[in-house]
Amino acid sequence: MLITVTGSTGTIGSELVRLLSDAGVPTRAVLRDVRKARPVPGVVWAQADLSDERLLEPALAGTTRLFLLTGNEPGFGEIQRGVVRAAEALGVRHVVKLSALGASDHSNSSIAREHWWAEQALQQTAMGWTLLRPHAFMQNWLGEVAETVRAEGVIYSPIGDGRVPFIDARDIAEVALRVLLDPEPHAGKKYVLTGGEAVGYAEVAAALSEATGKEIRYQPITMEEARERLEARGTPPELVDAMLAIAAYQRAGGPTSTVSDTVERLLGRPPRTIRDFARDYAQAFKGT
Ligand SMILES: NC(=O)c1ccc[n+]([C@@H]2O[C@H](COP(=O)([O-])OP(=O)(O)OC[C@H]3O[C@@H](n4cnc5c(N)ncnc54)[C@H](OP(=O)(O)O)[C@@H]3O)[C@@H](O)[C@H]2O)c1
Repeated sequence: MLITVTGSTGTIGSELVRLLSDAGVPTRAVLRDVRKARPVPGVVWAQADLSDERLLEPALAGTTRLFLLTGNEPGFGEIQRGVVRAAEALGVRHVVKLSALGASDHSNSSIAREHWWAEQALQQTAMGWTLLRPHAFMQNWLGEVAETVRAEGVIYSPIGDGRVPFIDARDIAEVALRVLLDPEPHAGKKYVLTGGEAVGYAEVAAALSEATGKEIRYQPITMEEARERLEARGTPPELVDAMLAIAAYQRAGGPTSTVSDTVERLLGRPPRTIRDFARDYAQAFKGT
């Protein structure tokens, strides 16, 4: 058996590669930039940009089970559809696709629409499949949020008093591991993955304050202010729109605040909490 992991240098993929190595499973980790390869027991690194169809065969040949993940670059749905076609042609037996909560053809977010489109392609194959549809990752805070916390002690967000069951990406990797090691019971399943409680940013600020010992507060901002911040960071315009569409859903509440019990059901333990995250990543928010 060979498990191939795409997105292996990213947040979930790097954790999944580590877990597969610990489990002693032969693993191929696909990456674009060989400089990111690092020695991990039992893991063979394979260089391929998944948007280059000529590289799909060497990247996927011999794979029994595939973990499919890319970033949010515009057009990722088409790239993933190409991977799905190649995987089926090359005899892959089961694909675990990392998707997103709200994957749908009528979402206001292009990210959710692209995921839905890739999901459709996978569901139409004869391969086994499992869709992981996580909600917002706590690890997102390691970017701009950590920067403003370090510089000003402030979290800025346009979601107002919206409450979100943020999930620790390490739990997503663990769910992916469970499914990849024993796919049959999970074949044809769509798993919504969330943390165990819906929280607002004031609670996130409190958890980070406690873990870091510094005073951190939440400052709500308007959608326009959020747009300016994203643009100032050089975020591509299409991605800015997609991210603000998700933020608008989170601000409105409803489905985006709903907690799912799937992580606990599959892992046999509660999901990691914002306190767990704050403790484990405190250094990123301290600054020195
Ligand atoms: N963040 C959230 O809150 C959230 C919530 C729900 C769903 N999601 C979904 O989660 C996924 C991102 O997961 P993540 O945060 O673990 O990933 P990530 O840290 O953003 O990393 C993306 C990974 O995909 C690789 N990649 C991108 N394009 C590629 C290509 N053309 N060929 C080969 N590899 C490629 C990247 O490789 P390089 O190292 O070469 O860039 C990297 O390993 C997205 O599909 C997103 O929609 C995210």
